[in-house]
Amino acid sequence: MKAGAGLFSAVVLFLLMGAVLGQRAPRPRKPIKRPPAGSKPAPPEPMEPTDLPPVKRGIPSIFPDCPVECFCSPQYPESLNCENQNLRVVPVIPSRAHYLYLQNNFISELTPESFVNATQVRWINLANNRLQRIDKQVFNRLPSLLFLYIQSNQLKEVPAGLPVSLEQLRLANNRISSIPSGAFNKMGNLTLLDLYHNQLSDSDLGKNTFRDLRNLVQLNLAHNILKKMPSGVPHGLTQLFLDKNRIDDIPKDYFAGFSHLAFLRMNYNQLSDKGVPKTVFNISTLLDLQLAHNQLSSVPKFNSHLEHLHLNHNSIESINGTLLCPYSLEVEPEDHSAMPRLRYLRLDGNHLSPPIPMDVIMCFRHLHSIVI
Ligand SMILES: *[C@@H]1O[C@H](CO)[C@@H](O)[C@H](O)[C@H]1NC(C)=O
Ligand SMILES: *[C@@H]1O[C@H](CO)[C@@H](O)[C@H](O)[C@H]1NC(C)=O
Ligand SMILES: *[C@@H]1O[C@H](CO)[C@@H](O)[C@H](O)[C@H]1NC(C)=O
Ligand SMILES: *[C@@H]1O[C@H](CO)[C@@H](O)[C@H](O)[C@H]1NC(C)=O
Repeated sequence: MKAGAGLFSAVVLFLLMGAVLGQRAPRPRKPIKRPPAGSKPAPPEPMEPTDLPPVKRGIPSIFPDCPVECFCSPQYPESLNCENQNLRVVPVIPSRAHYLYLQNNFISELTPESFVNATQVRWINLANNRLQRIDKQVFNRLPSLLFLYIQSNQLKEVPAGLPVSLEQLRLANNRISSIPSGAFNKMGNLTLLDLYHNQLSDSDLGKNTFRDLRNLVQLNLAHNILKKMPSGVPHGLTQLFLDKNRIDDIPKDYFAGFSHLAFLRMNYNQLSDKGVPKTVFNISTLLDLQLAHNQLSSVPKFNSHLEHLHLNHNSIESINGTLLCPYSLEVEPEDHSAMPRLRYLRLDGNHLSPPIPMDVIMCFRHLHSIVI
């Protein structure tokens, strides 16, 4: 459809309005967290080793080297399925195994012997166990390891001696408050690093911590205790997640070198206008910017390529579409690629009330959902 003609039919506005026109909407109270209706409280976790349920036996296998606690599928001789078996220790892994499923057990320790003959192994899933510490000899003899999942354990630091072949490393939901120096060195193939929900603070992230991760695509540092923007973040990143920290300030040129950043999430921080330089989010590659649950009182400048903007639950009192518009409204652009691509805008939970100013609608012609 040609822009300008039939404008309003193209703009479907979802207005969740409750406030009387012209009156200030009261700032909504913090939602009270309640368990979803009908959910039963989880049974208490067994504490003592003697309380743990007995180790289960696997299904008898055609492979004589299949550990009795595991299942070795005849169709997938490279997979070893030992998940959900109440294991305390890693069984003896046959050397043919490439894919190890060890998640949802009670494994509390890995020893260098754990994977001694598993030199071909490519994936290890140890999620949801009880690992507290991992010796640096454990993984460094696995030169083919690509995916290592250790989320939901009790680790206090990033394991040392990880193989440089890794492509995905998931360490979310641990208690990590320390990263040994050089922990990620030479990991030039790592694309995903997930450190969500740990206890990392600014001093744990040196400027060289991520230095060698030149192929990193996603870095998740959300739900930690950072007060500052992490330094030395690789500039090739596509996704940077920093939600639920205590960040109150962004250096002016922080995003200057980023060449592919498309998804930036900083919900639930302590950003206010004071700590957010006016054009810091004017990043031409950005598609999705999430700044909900902060203390912003004005809408930061953003690039015309941005498609999704979350600004709900801030302290914004007014929006001026003329100021906001990434291009001049006076010159009707010949070039449609210059038209702002914003499609989704959330502004609920601010001090705003409908109607949406006409200049906002005039500028953002691709907007098809706005929540106010
Ligand atoms: C590892 O492989 C060697 C040589 O095949 C064998 O002697 C040894 O018993 C194996 N160790 C384990 C723990 O499977
Ligand atoms: C990284 O990936 C490339 C391409 O798959 C591979 O050739 C190279 O050996 C890998 N590097 C390491 C350290 O595993
Ligand atoms: C935002 O960045 C673009 C380049 O991507 C530039 O042309 C524009 O002037 C910038 N806007 C502001 C408000 O700095
Ligand atoms: C929005 O900003 C422009 C430029 O500063 C100004 O001329 C205009 O009056 C403002 N609109 C409103 C509704 O305040």
